[in-house]
Amino acid sequence: MVVAAGSGSRLGAAVPKAFVPLAGVPLLGHALRGVLSCAAVSEVVLVVPAAQVDTAGAIAEAVCREVGARGVVTVVVGGAERGDSVAAGLGALSDGVEVVLVHDAARCLTPVAVFDRVVAAVEAGAVAVVPGTPVVDTVKQVDPDGVVVATPDRSTLRAVQTPQGFRRDVLVRAHATSSDATDDAGLVERLGEPVLVVDGDPRALKVTTSADLETAARLLGVTS
Ligand code: C5P
Repeated sequence: MVVAAGSGSRLGAAVPKAFVPLAGVPLLGHALRGVLSCAAVSEVVLVVPAAQVDTAGAIAEAVCREVGARGVVTVVVGGAERGDSVAAGLGALSDGVEVVLVHDAARCLTPVAVFDRVVAAVEAGAVAVVPGTPVVDTVKQVDPDGVVVATPDRSTLRAVQTPQGFRRDVLVRAHATSSDATDDAGLVERLGEPVLVVDGDPRALKVTTSADLETAARLLGVTS
């Protein structure tokens, strides 16, 4: 599932973030190319804003043609919050699907090796798997007044990315319980289920600001 229904207000573009061009291709197109390059992916549900359903369909068709994938992409309308969009996507999955990857379109340059690592870990028996990278900054937990209350040991921290992979039944149960986490693994943690972290990749950065878009352009070897 590729969630692409956010407005991207922090990017300040005229179109929703997933439809902003990067080297001439919308972020969603780059993201889909990565997803469809993962051999384990049998179907894709794209979750987009209501006004972008046709555009998303056209982007999906173009990418499918480019990578030689056929008839595997469904487009559905997302919701107000990310959790609502994931729930909408879950409702559109085919009956036989047992493993679900949830991927942010905003992490449009995620290498296929990250998808493969997540899939491999779920297939090896993990119920929930997230890619993550070591944290280089020292992180402080603060109270509402900005006063530091704790400094977690940095070596125990990971900055997590997508795709996040789940046994379908666990993800459905997690979304039935609550929806207000900033990632899907957070909902699964609340069920008391274990979440495994595998190696992420700096190229899986989330495009949030125009500076991130410039970083993504540099990674592609172009200027934005
Ligand atoms: O807002 P944020 O950058 O955390 O969004 C992460 C991903 O979730 C993006 O790909 C965005 O399009 C998606 N999203 C969504 N529906 C929302 C909000 C965010 O699909 N209502």
